[in-house]
Amino acid sequence: MKAWESRLDVLTIDLEKFQDYTEKVLRQGITITNLAQERKNGPDSLKSLHELVQLISADMPSPAAFTPVSYEQWEAFELKNPSLLPEAYMIAKDGPKYVGLSTVWRLDKEPRGLVQGNTGVRREYRGRGIAVALKLKVIDFARRNGYRKLKTWNASNNAPMLAVNTKLGFKREVGWITLEKALA
Ligand SMILES: CC(C)(COP(=O)(O)OP(=O)(O)OC[C@H]1O[C@@H](n2cnc3c(N)ncnc32)[C@H](O)[C@@H]1OP(=O)(O)O)[C@@H](O)C(=O)NCCC(=O)NCCS
Repeated sequence: MKAWESRLDVLTIDLEKFQDYTEKVLRQGITITNLAQERKNGPDSLKSLHELVQLISADMPSPAAFTPVSYEQWEAFELKNPSLLPEAYMIAKDGPKYVGLSTVWRLDKEPRGLVQGNTGVRREYRGRGIAVALKLKVIDFARRNGYRKLKTWNASNNAPMLAVNTKLGFKREVGWITLEKALA
């Protein structure tokens, strides 16, 4: 499996150029909120978010078959990650239903850098501009909070995600190759 690392200098993007995506998404009744907001709605919200993370993760290209992650594990690794930025963890909602997300965390060794983690949208909501709208929100957060760089990794066969990132101006860096040796 090959994954491309890509980077975006958030100051170079012309946000106005992508305004149509945000407006299109809003016209469909989709709102974009963040984890800091949703956490205030109590544990059921976090349970719903965990379910969405599982659905999306199952659709990501991976060298191994998908293994679900329990709520407790997800909470320990993702929600309690000290580098997590809940205000930058964007969530798309259709009414009360979570339909998409885009995660972000700090890069401890690069104070002005952020890692763009998973981005995903429920299957039945894809192709409506939701991923672009979510990532625009992340970029807007970065710009407003003094961050300069967004780093991400995408499987080389993940055409939709690569299309979204290329559209937004991410520039490809090195490729990370995963090899498997099958032991007898
Ligand atoms: C990748 C993913 C998040 C995209 O979500 P989405 O909401 O459908 O994306 P959008 O509707 O915002 O698409 C944006 C653009 O990408 C383009 N695009 C989408 N699929 C494409 C494909 N297969 N090939 C080329 N371009 C594609 C669209 O044409 C669209 O551009 P346009 O509106 O200017 O035509 C979604 O497919 C997904 O959840 N996949 C599973 C999880 C995953 O793999 N996440 C990435 C790993 S972190």
